[in-house]
Amino acid sequence: MKVLVVGSGAREHALVWKCVQSDLVERVYCAPGNGGTGGMARNIPIGVADVVRIVEFSKRERLGLVILGPEASVDAGVGDALRSAGFNVFGPNRGAGRIESSKSFAKQLMVRAGIPTAEFGVFIDPLPAKEWAAQRDGKVAVKADGLARGKGVIVCADVREADAAIDAMLVQKRFGRSGATVVVEELLEGPELSLLGVTDGTDIVPLAPARDFKRAHEGDQGPNTGGMGAYSPPLGVGDDVVREVVDRVLRPAVRELAASGDEFRGVLYAGLMLTKSGIRTIEFNARFGDPEAQVVLPRLETDLVALALACSKGTLANFPELRWSPQASVAIVVASGNYPDDAAMKLGLQIRGLAEIPRGALIFHAGTRFEPGTGLVTDGGRVVTSAALGDTVAEAREKALAGARQVRFPGAFFRSDIAAEAVI
Ligand code: AMP
Ligand code: GLY
Repeated sequence: MKVLVVGSGAREHALVWKCVQSDLVERVYCAPGNGGTGGMARNIPIGVADVVRIVEFSKRERLGLVILGPEASVDAGVGDALRSAGFNVFGPNRGAGRIESSKSFAKQLMVRAGIPTAEFGVFIDPLPAKEWAAQRDGKVAVKADGLARGKGVIVCADVREADAAIDAMLVQKRFGRSGATVVVEELLEGPELSLLGVTDGTDIVPLAPARDFKRAHEGDQGPNTGGMGAYSPPLGVGDDVVREVVDRVLRPAVRELAASGDEFRGVLYAGLMLTKSGIRTIEFNARFGDPEAQVVLPRLETDLVALALACSKGTLANFPELRWSPQASVAIVVASGNYPDDAAMKLGLQIRGLAEIPRGALIFHAGTRFEPGTGLVTDGGRVVTSAALGDTVAEAREKALAGARQVRFPGAFFRSDIAAEAVI
């Protein structure tokens, strides 16, 4: 069978890497792919939201499965168009994808389904939003309603910061249409957990739990990013926590979507905070996480293509139990200088060191591009992920760090404290 992975990040490189290991697969394509996917699949120059050309390509190549990587594909309706043309798609339709693309939709769904989440208000006018925040002394998270590439959340410590965040979105329109509606939420405290589940719209099976590190700098300082690293399994997250999240968060969400006519087939990702008063859902995503995919997929021993097909066909109930490596995994993102400030980043810089990656580290490419005559150059904020498995978190972390140190270009930086909390 021929498989297409849509996307161009390290998540998609990890998906491609997993797909090429499947016995069911004869060829893997990646659209548009990056400097890493080009080495193990065939990159196709089609954009992630180019619905017409993705459908045309799928027909021409008679694809057996299409896996949607990024939210932009889901939101463009790639899933809808492919499904109506009869293809197997691992990724939801646009309507179900609103669980990610509209935070107010997600919050309202959580309320209807009784899913534990933070108290919140939804606003289009700055004044009532500021009043809501002031009642909580400004200790709130201000969130752009729409998609903002993981950067649309401002965590505020006082009234001044809350007012500034609300103005940035509702008055200065710094997030454009995505920030024309905001969700203001009570501030939660506690370790985070990413639990992804694969679903065929009826059944849901959890993947291995992971913890993502979203702040740009060491010690959880600096702005929020798409994610600077992750590890699995996270400290303090046992089978009991996973079961609770499936029962109280993931399954009710899948049911509620189905009941409202938005059947969800693909990966449903719950971002949670483990607070003193119990689990709280802070977001849903309609896809694999990045960098969560880079730690979860290396631990998955089950054939991903078979699993994705079962989800896309609605036969997950008959699928054998997933098999997982008992090893731990750690992934560390190497980013361009000044990431996540797009305007201040310099791209097109030659990347050195990839030929000397130590054994045991896997390099998943994201913002890389092959330039004839020069070789690989930087082409985005998150440049590569260095990922590794190990018998302990400490061992996996050492290997991932060794890989990250080898990736050299001017301004390169990574967080050396990813997973350090789990190293005794
Ligand atoms: P989100 O895109 O909603 O997952 O938010 C991005 C990040 O902002 C989360 O991973 C948290 O680190 C932080 N965050 C979001 N909501 C809250 C909240 N209610 N309280 C504290 N931190 C939050
Ligand atoms: N790592 C967070 C995300 O993929 O949204």
